[in-house]
Amino acid sequence: MGKEFFTLDDFFFDGKTVLVRVDINSPIDPETGSLKEITKIKRHGETLLELAEKGARVVALSHQGREGESDFVPLKQHAKTASELLGVNIGYVDDVCGDKAVSAIKRLKPSEILLLENVRFVSEETKVKSLKEQLKTNLVRNLSTVSDIFVNDAFPAAHRSHVSLIAFTEVMPSAAGRVMEAEVKALSSIMNDPERPCVYLLGGSKIDDSFRVAENALKTGIADKVLVTGLLAVAFVAARGVDVGEVNKRLIISKGASEYIEQTRKLMDAFGDKIKLPLDFALEINGERVEAEVGSLPHNAQIKDLGEQTISEFAGILRKAKTIVINGPAGVYEDDRFSKGTEVLLKAIAETQAFSLAGGGHTLEALEKFGVSSKISYVSTGGKAMLSLLAGEKLPAVEALKKAYLRAVSEGKGE
Ligand code: 3PG
Repeated sequence: MGKEFFTLDDFFFDGKTVLVRVDINSPIDPETGSLKEITKIKRHGETLLELAEKGARVVALSHQGREGESDFVPLKQHAKTASELLGVNIGYVDDVCGDKAVSAIKRLKPSEILLLENVRFVSEETKVKSLKEQLKTNLVRNLSTVSDIFVNDAFPAAHRSHVSLIAFTEVMPSAAGRVMEAEVKALSSIMNDPERPCVYLLGGSKIDDSFRVAENALKTGIADKVLVTGLLAVAFVAARGVDVGEVNKRLIISKGASEYIEQTRKLMDAFGDKIKLPLDFALEINGERVEAEVGSLPHNAQIKDLGEQTISEFAGILRKAKTIVINGPAGVYEDDRFSKGTEVLLKAIAETQAFSLAGGGHTLEALEKFGVSSKISYVSTGGKAMLSLLAGEKLPAVEALKKAYLRAVSEGKGE
């Protein structure tokens, strides 16, 4: 595939002021208000440090949380954590695009890094929808006046059309940061030319996302096999006419699966040979793990894991795969009575030589829990953004970078 957007390799940064959209939106402890997890801060550090080492004046911009929720907090502690992690001072200003921020940016010296305040504290960021209006916001006007180059590294937020993700690219020379570049490359390699067999291991409880990923992988021929686990498997089995019992029926309805029943049937009719459904499940009965075959599921017990037969069949398929996409745990992995399916399948993947890609909060937590994160070839920072791409959708922030590249090329400024 040819070049689609500029990267950090395409610009000279020495002495330039570079506005970098990162996504250091991190889980926050609701009791203490402090950071619970810092993976994204670590990953973006690579881009920030590279720019600083190249002599840029680096201005980082990120969102944190959503308005009205307990994680909608300032970025002061993120700057402190980033400074400790990266071993350089990351300045912080409690302003996004007002006079205070603009003055702090103007005072920056080459190789210094400054983190601006949570960009969602400025309502323009999420509320102004049309691109034309976005270009008139204070956010774009004030920050583009004091910076020379825009770098978008915020892959996990790339499915959003917020101002900071799609408008700066219209008015400034723009490039993808290292995180954005690596994410798009890893996902494109799977979507365009996976080594075969390519197996998708899908589960978790977000049925709509997983369904769309399965549908795209099968219709485009990317996946040779889709192994269906988690609550998604309960929904698929129910769509095939199996009585999964009241508790499980209610659970899948509460997750919005009812609207997918008809589509699931159609998908199974068209691609039945490629979709592997569980043969058995593990359920909770009187506090115990009880196994049952799909045809004889007890009526009032919740399905919480794959059964032994299925675990062993799926592990066998994964061992032979050359490309593996993982999204969503196979069962209630947090509870040791029901973690077996998730643990065995993730460990089977860890032992293969396959190119494996994983993303999504629960999947990453499960990989950590079973000590196999480092054995996965590529761990995506994106949850929803990764799933949208795997579902065949375009990501507005990536499209904006492509548009900026094409514009530069047509003006004779690119290759
Ligand atoms: C994420 O955590 O998935 C990204 O930071 C996007 O956050 P959002 O869903 O609040 O836009």
